[in-house]
Amino acid sequence: MQGNHFAVQRFLTFLRDKKTDAQTFRWASDNLSRLLCGEALSKLPHEQVEIVTPVGAAEGQRLLTEIMVVPIYRAGQSLVHAFLEVVPDAAVGSLLIQRDERTAQPELFYKKLVYPLPACAIILDPMLATAGSAVMAVRVLREEGYRPQSIYFVGVVAAEEGFNRLAEHIPEANITVAAVDPLLNDKKYIVPGLGDYGDRYFGT
Ligand code: PRP
Ligand code: URA
Repeated sequence: MQGNHFAVQRFLTFLRDKKTDAQTFRWASDNLSRLLCGEALSKLPHEQVEIVTPVGAAEGQRLLTEIMVVPIYRAGQSLVHAFLEVVPDAAVGSLLIQRDERTAQPELFYKKLVYPLPACAIILDPMLATAGSAVMAVRVLREEGYRPQSIYFVGVVAAEEGFNRLAEHIPEANITVAAVDPLLNDKKYIVPGLGDYGDRYFGT
């Protein structure tokens, strides 16, 4: 996402501000998720259709693919609701991948996908830092037979390093984020970023 859309910037500003309370953080996250979802869906195969309104003929758009959203728990859960509001028949898989707090290396604890596998898989995770977690999720999906072109990623903030790393595994055009930040600190947190998304969204 270009990130220059005012509404995106507005919600992102609430998310970044360390003074934002938990309730406002969740509100901004839920609203931004809807915008990100709209942007991501526009990248999926779709076609123009002719429909008839109560007063005449019109053109519309229809998705041409079935979708499985795959949140990376825990923070990825925050993006699921927005997708289900817009695509209520989307399948929901789950991957529990956690970064080790000391080494920042990801570990896969749990995997539950939906069979038969829908044609497109959209990985959901608000933070793309080193991209270790996202690349692990891509690997799981590749093992299930997904081609890189059918795997999408939706997040809120990426570090440039993680964005570039993920783009080595799936097409760059399949990655939707609201912002790409320049740095990772020594704990592999995104700078300026917004801190720990899961902690702030879930109030831990
Ligand atoms: C965070 C975040 C991503 C990951 C990003 O999750 O939600 O999953 O770190 O970092 P990476 O790109 O370097 O892999 P974390 O493992 O801290 O768990 P949480 O969702 O419970 O906060
Ligand atoms: N996870 C987060 O929640 N924030 C970061 O900056 C990096 C990983």
